[in-house]
Amino acid sequence: MNATGKISETRKLIDAARHEGLRVGFVPTMGALHAGHVSLIERARAENGFVVVSIFVNPTQFGANEDLSKYPRTFADDLEACMAAGADLVFHPDADEMYPPDATTTIHVAGVTEPMEGEHRPGHFDGVALVCAKLFNIVGACSAYFGEKDAQQVRVIERVVMDLDLPVEVVRCETVRDQDGLALSSRNRYLSGDERKRALSLSRALRSVESGVANGQRSASVLLDEARQLLDADAVDYFEIVDPTTLACVETVNGPVLVCGAIRIGATRLIDNITVGGRLT
Ligand code: PAJ
Repeated sequence: MNATGKISETRKLIDAARHEGLRVGFVPTMGALHAGHVSLIERARAENGFVVVSIFVNPTQFGANEDLSKYPRTFADDLEACMAAGADLVFHPDADEMYPPDATTTIHVAGVTEPMEGEHRPGHFDGVALVCAKLFNIVGACSAYFGEKDAQQVRVIERVVMDLDLPVEVVRCETVRDQDGLALSSRNRYLSGDERKRALSLSRALRSVESGVANGQRSASVLLDEARQLLDADAVDYFEIVDPTTLACVETVNGPVLVCGAIRIGATRLIDNITVGGRLT
């Protein structure tokens, strides 16, 4: 496995792989890798001849009051995890390599960025869109693997790829959870024992919507009233049932919908979602 912080070196190594006729699979990450990230890398490994992982804690997607400086950094362990999962190349630029001081171009994605995370993290998805567009341009034509754990992020990336005609196939990968249902997240390591127990209320609330739908309830407001009562958080940023394409709230569950929530427990913010009412195509 190769690892480099340089864009030019990354392009050279990927061009060489493509020249050999290898398909390129790409997994963008911010490091602090866990089994969720590893599942993306393993899937990319199974479906491609050359697997690139990026590790970059992207400053443009963090708000002024967010946890950029405290974001967990575990680079040596991350390299080992990438190697074990079968990556061929790890691209780990520093902030100056990605954002030279004279760079002034930004990307704004309208629509799907606006509800939910967009309301609570203004500017977040513009930063995600910018860094992913840049990473896609560095990596070139590829299949790019994203977790459904960040369902709104995947929609934003799909929009960017379509709108900018990027030669990228976006592949959605299932959320990996701990045995008790908690979605794996780099931020889970901040939770104390008691906070972790309370964090479980988010996946429980999502599941209660699932069972409500399975029992024939179709009214979003009835489903949400019941589910929201289960949340044991210091703050609920949102807990909604939305259309999987537009991410607008639905009143009635007719076909597959996303149930999405974001809660705060102590200083930690957690998000999760599930699809209910059918499978997404
Ligand atoms: P990060 O939070 O490191 O996540 C990298 C990828 O791993 C994302 O596609 C995310 O959805 C996926 N992932 C995280 N937890 C997961 C889980 N429990 N199961 C399955 N997949 C999971 O998301 C980002 O980084 C950044 O916004 C990035 C796209 C890299 C742009 O900076």
